Amino acid sequence: MRGGGDPLGAMYILAAVAMGIGFLIITVLIFVPSDLFDRSAPEDLYTPGSGTSWVEESRLHPITEPPGVRQVEPGVFVATLYAYNWEFEPREIRVPVGATVTFRARSRQEYHGFALVGTPVILSLDPNEMREATYTFDEPGEYPFVCSEYCGGGHVAMSGRVIVE
Ligand code: CUA
Repeated sequence: MRGGGDPLGAMYILAAVAMGIGFLIITVLIFVPSDLFDRSAPEDLYTPGSGTSWVEESRLHPITEPPGVRQVEPGVFVATLYAYNWEFEPREIRVPVGATVTFRARSRQEYHGFALVGTPVILSLDPNEMREATYTFDEPGEYPFVCSEYCGGGHVAMSGRVIVE
């Protein structure tokens, strides 16, 4: 019967396809390791841009300071910075003209650097400890900071700025 098809043949094909799919699902369930389906991130892994994965404790030493700038007395500030692969947190720090800022910086992934362009401030960042440097901003303007130690693919993208106003 031309054009009418063969209902029995079509059913055989459908049954074969269904069996094939079933077999594939069983094979995947048996042979693919279950951790492949585990999407939960490791506890201490930072997800750039998510902004919610801040954890208080690192595996190495407790981290108790949140990133950011805070005034400790009139005109005196502490800016806490963390370096990740491959960005700084925070990326922008705002202080008034004349501010004396102590930069407290540490890496949270591998080794990085912190260099405040146009100033003597340069720190080697270690995952194990905070490093500090203090600078007084007498002039208003933008002071870019960059990663000063080669750290791989995202090295050149690691930057931020201090805005003095
Ligand atoms: Cu981080 Cu270079």
